[in-house]
Amino acid sequence: MGYPVTLQLRGRRCTVLGEGKLAAEKAQGLLHAGAHLTVIAATPCAELEALRAEPELTLLRRGYVPGDLAGSFLAIDASGDQEVNRLSFAEAEERGVLINVVDQPERCDFYAPALVRRGPLSVAVSTDGESPFLAGALRARLERTIGDEWGPFTSLVGGVRRRLRERGVPIAEQTPVYRRLLRSEIRDLLRDGHTAEARYAAAAMESAAGRPRTGTVALVGAGPGDPSLLTLAARELLAEADTVYHDSLIDPRTLALCSPHTRLVDAGKRGGRASADQGWITAQLIEAAGAGEDVVRLKGGDPFVFGRGGEELTALRRAGLEVMVVPGVSSALAAPAAAGIPVTLRGLASSLAVLTGSERDGSSPERLEAIARAVDTLVVLMPLGNLERICARLVTAIGPDRPAALVASATLRTERVVRAPIARLARAAAEAGITSPATLVVGEVVDAIPLQQVGELAASAGAGPGTHDVMAVAGPRPGIEEVGR
Ligand SMILES: C[S@@+](CC[C@H](N)C(=O)[O-])C[C@H]1O[C@@H](n2cnc3c(N)ncnc32)[C@H](O)[C@@H]1O
Repeated sequence: MGYPVTLQLRGRRCTVLGEGKLAAEKAQGLLHAGAHLTVIAATPCAELEALRAEPELTLLRRGYVPGDLAGSFLAIDASGDQEVNRLSFAEAEERGVLINVVDQPERCDFYAPALVRRGPLSVAVSTDGESPFLAGALRARLERTIGDEWGPFTSLVGGVRRRLRERGVPIAEQTPVYRRLLRSEIRDLLRDGHTAEARYAAAAMESAAGRPRTGTVALVGAGPGDPSLLTLAARELLAEADTVYHDSLIDPRTLALCSPHTRLVDAGKRGGRASADQGWITAQLIEAAGAGEDVVRLKGGDPFVFGRGGEELTALRRAGLEVMVVPGVSSALAAPAAAGIPVTLRGLASSLAVLTGSERDGSSPERLEAIARAVDTLVVLMPLGNLERICARLVTAIGPDRPAALVASATLRTERVVRAPIARLARAAAEAGITSPATLVVGEVVDAIPLQQVGELAASAGAGPGTHDVMAVAGPRPGIEEVGR
């Protein structure tokens, strides 16, 4: 495995062999790094010709001859000519010149990583020459994640660092400032062109170095299960949090997005109890933020949909804390969607109600009946404890034949869907052994869309069976069964 370094090439002699676009690309990169560059190309392409005006470039219009690498610190052979490749590598070996013969890993002393540059910030992706394609694909992903604002942001943080060092602020007091800068809205300000405000905000954080501060709390929705359904804001907060208090059912892959330094507290398992003590959780959040920590309270789905987020927000605001709310994808919508059930459908369903099946959380048989009569689509969370009673009430309210589905462990590989007319659903669910978490959906929409045949789907998508992404959008995933139809 290679040892990653960034080479300082300013003023050093480098040589590029080759006359095509690739050679021009390499030449450009080396010039950008300040190299004193010689390009050897018998018939240079237009891109190379365009570089001619560069003061640090010497263009020799001829083929390579052994001896050309004398005095070079580094060489790139992009000639694509087997004989030149052989000779240039031999010469480089002999002279101790670092060489990269393009597309020949065995003739490379170094590999050029795929780069994302944002001002002074460079992110390099290397596969040690195994797959330039993968390195490029990852670079493209990073390009989209690391916006242009990271360039001025890096310079701004660099300025803060220089001044803190000049003032002799100890490292232990500097680090919290950098973390605050990273978590702040300064990058948003820079992205939107508010440079003066960004500098002002950074200066305020800089001058507060060493002073105790109150932390923050973010009430964050973790979505229904699959970590790919987390919001970007949730991901960033998890990566930066000091402590995360999370519900018990949060997927381990989601928790793995936290930094290794983050303290993870399972707020659902306090003292081995099955359910959390809300007072204890709120007190912990207040204490941690009061001690200067940036805390994330991570809840399944959306924090405000039967998640007790409202109570926590009230208590935290009363305690005078800065609280941010990050919505999540609620299972109320994600569970039907994952099962291919649209909760509204033009001409069939134009109203939707989400309610709880748990009487402790406010469900009552009378309200259930009234709401079921009033809306086209009914989504019931926490239905399993009372499923038989809920279904019986619904039969009274809307008749026995209304299509219904129970979607369990939606968006996870263990997802299961049971469909049946409402009068038969409880029995079908019991026979199928459906377990929590499950969401009940009732309405004509349940049967409105034909079930997708896995084979057909794969064929029409032009992909092999088991293509997870396609399944996730269009219907049951591999390993997911539909029962009860
Ligand atoms: C206490 S409520 C919390 C709801 C959450 N705040 C939300 O917005 O999804 C828990 C209920 O959400 C539903 N639920 C959560 N995750 C689910 C999943 N992956 N599949 C189906 N239902 C789920 C179940 O009805 C479960 O009983």
